[in-house]
Amino acid sequence: MTADLGFVHVFKPAQNPGAATLLLLHGTGGDEHDMVPLGGLAPGAALLSPRGKVLENGMPRFFRRLAEGVFDVEDLKLRAGELADFVIAAAAHYRFDPSRVIAMGFSNGANIASATMFLRPGVLKGGILFRAMVPFEPDPDAASPTPQDTRLSGTRVLISNGRVDPIVSREETERLARILQRAGADVEVHWQPAGHQLMPSDFAVAKTWLQSIR
Ligand code: MLT
Repeated sequence: MTADLGFVHVFKPAQNPGAATLLLLHGTGGDEHDMVPLGGLAPGAALLSPRGKVLENGMPRFFRRLAEGVFDVEDLKLRAGELADFVIAAAAHYRFDPSRVIAMGFSNGANIASATMFLRPGVLKGGILFRAMVPFEPDPDAASPTPQDTRLSGTRVLISNGRVDPIVSREETERLARILQRAGADVEVHWQPAGHQLMPSDFAVAKTWLQSIR
């Protein structure tokens, strides 16, 4: 029986005292159990894995979309706020360090993770984004000269996308990396010889990146 913190979720305490917490975020149609095996990429870490609260034809998601790749940005912003509040509530309830939460999201889960970084900086110390898209344009005036945006300085991000992904173009991946970097994040992009599905090489790069961050 897990606590009611606003999301149906799985929590597994850290095996190593002081280890980071991985926030596991599934893709469309997944649930809170899907990503738990990937917790093995960070041995000893605590695992927090919520189920998205939006249903699309019965499939759980973390926010509404109007069509494939067309997001309901109002809903996305609301849901990112709910997810951030959930992480903070879970840290207090399960007594893990709220300053050491690293997201690992796939597809829809990657998109809510980056939205949460932009909207609630500081809640996530970093994140692995598998098959990620641009969640929304965080600063429509970014083309005009503005003071340096440092809201994500100290935030580390790994984007692992597929070279032949039919739903995420190379341009979109590069744009996501640029938007994150412009906000001060330290971003690494890895290209996999893959489409939208994950491959063993995604896990290998994620494992190495996690070792470097903990
Ligand atoms: C999304 O809706 O977040 C993206 O289209 C990825 C997905 O299919 O879930």
